[in-house]
Amino acid sequence: MKKFLILVVLAVLPTVAFASSEHGPKLDPVNIDLNDKASLQRGARIFVNYCLSCHSASYMRYNRMGHDLGISEELVKENLLFAADKVGDLMKAVMPKEDAKLWFGVAPPDLSLIARARKPAWVYTYMRSFYRDPASHSGWNNLVFPHVAMPHVLYEWQGDQRAVFKTVKTKTRVEVNGKMVEKDVESEEFERLELERPGSMSAKDYDDAMRDLTNFLVYLGEPAKLVRYQIGVYVLIFLAVFLIFAYLLKKEYWKDVH
Ligand code: HEC
Repeated sequence: MKKFLILVVLAVLPTVAFASSEHGPKLDPVNIDLNDKASLQRGARIFVNYCLSCHSASYMRYNRMGHDLGISEELVKENLLFAADKVGDLMKAVMPKEDAKLWFGVAPPDLSLIARARKPAWVYTYMRSFYRDPASHSGWNNLVFPHVAMPHVLYEWQGDQRAVFKTVKTKTRVEVNGKMVEKDVESEEFERLELERPGSMSAKDYDDAMRDLTNFLVYLGEPAKLVRYQIGVYVLIFLAVFLIFAYLLKKEYWKDVH
């Protein structure tokens, strides 16, 4: 009985945890497709050019990534090797962790597992939810990660967004001279993001680029998935062929019985 109870608690816990994480800003769904090699290649290019200066992906080597995404070693050398010397190197950030900590207050985390830790929809929404905030240290704030220390590194693509807040009145009961009275309390509630200054990309192109980047980060979180997909196809082909032989064998055995 005790064991059973523990099992029930373990089964229910994750759903409770999920339910509580549903609060907060709405996350936009993103179409992840690890078979879309062109998208993964575009995502890798963005990652190496714009993220690797601060963040590492220290479980990945350049040549492994090239091999998985169908990019030749020459192309990797020419186009993706800014932060390292050799194609066999791990994808380490250019900026030393200590310096980053000094400049941003926190060291940029390794992004190898970010799409698994935060979920793809979160990463996709995060990259599209930066807005100008003069009160913050970097001049930027983020809807899904309030007071984030990361500046919006792709603002030239997306442009500058502004957060529009609306004033909402809620009635609360307060005590005045020993009597309970109802009072209006005003608070600011987030309404929407507004493009204040357009960037070099249209909103659709920017969303597409962020989808490619998120797709790449999902690949980064589990590179063996691509290999597993391939093995899966072979297994299905094997099973189909095996089925023919199994059927013929069955017919052969039952011939004598009938
Ligand atoms: C100028 C340095 C810098 C660059 C370039 C940069 N980041 Fe960051 N990033 C940071 C810092 C610093 C943090 C930590 C923020 C914090 O904890 O407040 C961070 C945090 C993040 C997080 C949240 C991690 C978490 O704790 O959940 C994600 C996701 C992220 N960055 C993605 C990216 C991507 C994708 C790129 C490339 C487009 C990028 N970053 C480029 C500095 C940078």
